[in-house]
Amino acid sequence: METLTYTHNAAAAAAVAAAYDAPPMAYVRSYGCQQNFNDGEKLRGVLQDIGFGIADAPEQADLILFNTCAVREHAEQRVFGNIGALKKLKEQNPRLIIGVCGCMAQQPQVVEKLKASYPYVDLVFGVDGIDRLPALLARRLGGARRCLERPAERGALVEGVPIRRDSGFRAWLPVMYGCDNFCTYCIVPYVRGRERSRAPADILAEFRALVAAGYKEITLLGQNVNSYGKNLPQPVDFADLLELLCTVPGDYRLRFMTSHPKDAGKKLIDTVARHPQLCKHLHLPVQAGSDRVLAAMNRHYTARQYLELIDYAKKTIPGVTFSSDIIVGFPSETEEDFQKTLELVKTVGYMQLFTFIYSKRTGTKAAQMPDPATHAEKAGRMARLLKLQEEASFPAVAALAGQDVTVLVEGAGRRPGTLDGRLDNNLVVEFPAPESLVGQWARVHLTGARAALLTGELVQQNRKDD
Ligand code: 5AD
Ligand code: SF4
Repeated sequence: METLTYTHNAAAAAAVAAAYDAPPMAYVRSYGCQQNFNDGEKLRGVLQDIGFGIADAPEQADLILFNTCAVREHAEQRVFGNIGALKKLKEQNPRLIIGVCGCMAQQPQVVEKLKASYPYVDLVFGVDGIDRLPALLARRLGGARRCLERPAERGALVEGVPIRRDSGFRAWLPVMYGCDNFCTYCIVPYVRGRERSRAPADILAEFRALVAAGYKEITLLGQNVNSYGKNLPQPVDFADLLELLCTVPGDYRLRFMTSHPKDAGKKLIDTVARHPQLCKHLHLPVQAGSDRVLAAMNRHYTARQYLELIDYAKKTIPGVTFSSDIIVGFPSETEEDFQKTLELVKTVGYMQLFTFIYSKRTGTKAAQMPDPATHAEKAGRMARLLKLQEEASFPAVAALAGQDVTVLVEGAGRRPGTLDGRLDNNLVVEFPAPESLVGQWARVHLTGARAALLTGELVQQNRKDD
């Protein structure tokens, strides 16, 4: 597999400088998953590299980019709605450049729709196009009316892409791109292409730089981090990569997502147990509790195998917490199948659950499957699942009261005068404290909970106990 290195595009920078009297401003909005947010940070970095300033609102921008998500229809509809709202801005400022990129822009039917019905969209490029944005913009500024392309999948990795990170203390660090699993409901393998792992040395270098820059929480990203290394020349897996990163000394904690249960093994769990800087929290999307549905989803595990993995983690990692993704109403899911999902959720005791009603994605295998259940039936199942989860998790969250915990302070809380801090296990606690603590570690005494949100009192600032 080819690894390319980003190079500054001087011609594009010159085209930008020539086109505007003052430095132009760019506004980038990302939708969807963390991977996409990280891509958005790179889009901003690349735009800065060719002379753009970064705007906080579309109204202030000379260039607006929507970095889109295709995982569910609802997300796509939101994007189309938001693009529609830009028409007015374009009428007020005909020189405004509007671009659509990311996962939606990888789908031919979306590109066609943009072409036909959104004439004020100037640029369309897919997930592979971040490093080529300067060249595309130069074409547009050089007189091309519209640049709508669906780049062929390059299957390459690009290192050294400039990045403008959103936070000074939490960072995303992709370890691999793409997905080879082809779960039958999922569009991701079609839009993000085949799995490509970054070389351990490149990841280590970026990780060291983040730690040296004072980043306190670093989240390793991949659609399925447990496939890490499969296409690399050296024999290395994800647990080995974690071991390598944990040799870096520093004041940080490390998370990762997402783990596919079929590939997450004992070695990974043993590694998490061994290193204090690895968060004791596993996001292990189960998707469904019925073996028949799991097989139809092409997930390659049974409910029993999943529960064995959870059991091993509970035994091996003291205090471990779990979160999961669940799809309700997959084609052909019966009431009996759904009962098995409820049972499984009860057995595991998740701290957090991300639940989705199945959304049909053109081009996936599941889109061909008969889907007799009505939306009302699916919505009813969803409500029951959420109720069960609340009944199980709210008391479990509240039961943490009385403990002192280390948190990373992320920002303002909902109540005035409070801040939100994230625990190692991914739960959030709200506690009264001065704003100057944002971005710092703090010790917090947990006093109770409001639903899934813990409440607490500051014990000591700037202190991290493992
Ligand atoms: N419909 C509903 N949910 C989906 N997900 C992925 N594809 C679909 C779909 N077509 C969910 C899965 C996945 C999460 C990121 O999004 O639960 O784990
Ligand atoms: Fe989609 Fe499955 Fe790949 Fe996750 S592992 S991105 S759900 S195909």
